[in-house]
Parts: sequence; C-alpha cells; structure tokens
Amino acid sequence: MSKNILATYRRPTGWLGRTLWFYEEIASTNDVALAAAREGAAAGLVVVADAQTAGRGRLNRHWEAPRGTSLLVSLLFRPPAPFAVQAARTTMACGLGLRAAVLEVAGVSVDLKWPNDLIYQPSGADGAWKKLGGMLSEVALSEQGEPRALVVGWGINVNIPEAMLAKLSPQAASLLTLGGRLVDRTALLDCALKEIEGRYEAVVAGEDPLPSWRAAVAWLGERVEVVGPGKRVSGIALDVAADGALLVRLADGEIRRVTAGDVSLRRQFNA
Ligand code: BTN
Repeated sequence: MSKNILATYRRPTGWLGRTLWFYEEIASTNDVALAAAREGAAAGLVVVADAQTAGRGRLNRHWEAPRGTSLLVSLLFRPPAPFAVQAARTTMACGLGLRAAVLEVAGVSVDLKWPNDLIYQPSGADGAWKKLGGMLSEVALSEQGEPRALVVGWGINVNIPEAMLAKLSPQAASLLTLGGRLVDRTALLDCALKEIEGRYEAVVAGEDPLPSWRAAVAWLGERVEVVGPGKRVSGIALDVAADGALLVRLADGEIRRVTAGDVSLRRQFNA
C-alpha cells in the first residue's frame, strides 16, 4: 500500500492547523473538535481523519466516505462577539475558502448550495447537479449554555471512483469523477486551510463575506422548494439574509425567511 502522506502533513505557516491531530480512524472529527473545544483547546485546532465510523452530516444523516479517499476535517474557531453573526460569517468564509481551494488545486469549479453544500452544476444546468461535499457547523457550549467555540466540519469527496460513489448516493460526485484525475489530498488540505484562514481573519477584522457568498450560491432567482419535518415552502429563492437565512418569495408575494435548521433545499422544474 502506498504511504499515506496526509498522515504526516504539517502546515508550514499560519495559525489554522498549527496544531493538527490526524487519526487513521475516528468516530467523527467534529466530535473530537467539540470535545477539545470544551476542554479549552485553542482556536486553530484542525482535526483530520482518514476514515470515520460515525461521520455526521446535517439533518442527522450519516456522512459516508470510503477510507483514504476523502478529506474529513474539522476546524475549531473562537469567533468574537456577537457570536451568532460571527459564527454565520465564519461558516460562509469556510465555504468560500473550500470552493477556492477546489478550483485552485483540482481545477474544478463548484457552487455553494444553501445552506452548506458544495455542488457541481454542468453548464446549461438541467438539474443534474452533483454533491461534492458538505459542511456541518456546530457550537460548543459552556456549562452555562453560553457559546464558546464553533466547529466547522467538512467532508469533500476527493478520489472516490464512480463505482463507489454510486453506493453512497445517486447525487454524489468526487473531484476524481469531475476532474478526471487523482487529486493530492494533502495539497488540497493545505490550500483549503490557507484560503479559509485569510477569509476568517477578514471576518474578525469586520468584513462581511455575505456578498461573496451570495455570488457563489446556486439557484438564486430560481424556483425552489424547502422541505423539513412538517414544513414545505415553495417559491423563488430571492436572496440570502445577513444571518444566512434563505429568503423565498411565495406565490402570493409574501417573502418567507427560511433558516437552515432541519431543512433541505431542492430545485423545482416546470412548476
Ligand atoms: C452535510 O453535507 O450534511 C455535511 C457533512 C459534513 C461531514 C463532515 S466529515 C468531517 C466532519 N466530521 C463529521 O462527523 N462530519 C463532518
């Protein structure tokens, strides 16, 4: 078996990833980072795994990734106050950083799908979009219930061949299938940390990543459906609000705010 160079990766510069824990296998990198956050770990901790036994996605879904094929990473941030605003901005900064790194290292141009997916849309999009990765942002609370840290976990399908993808989900894609070549996971991780670090520093300095994020989000201006437990909202995806909520114009003209919570977004055709 070839040497797993991800295991020995060390970030040469910067604070994000100066402390990096690598696991051949762990339950969930988000769980490790959340526990570390509660125990006082410093911002900038990066947790990487080659395989997860209980990887989690949004909506209580499992996040499956065949061993050694993906980037499974969690980042620990301690955003300044006000926490909710800065946490939303931090997650946006991560999405934008990942998108930039995927383009730079793999040459694949992806969009963000509200709230936290990375998707590929073929030109002349006919609905055959594919999911390349996703992010799961979680808050570490103090014993008093105060937000203390933000963990942003992301999974990117890097070198998963077509046959394996089909077993994960009909919509799953990888950089290998999209770009037609194997991608160096270490180079992608290094680039992603660099891209995210700069964007997070801008957030802390007061910059709002929303305009850039809005420009990268798929399906604005298009007919969508937001589905959650006991909830179904159909209309035109108008915009994204400052806190990351999706603004949907309903048929009667009402503009409905939809928060990410436990909902997923679909695109509607011929409605
Ligand atoms: C989603 O699309 O639903 C989000 C998926 C997030 C998966 C990543 S993999 C690394 C980190 N650890 C986890 O348990 N989940 C996130």
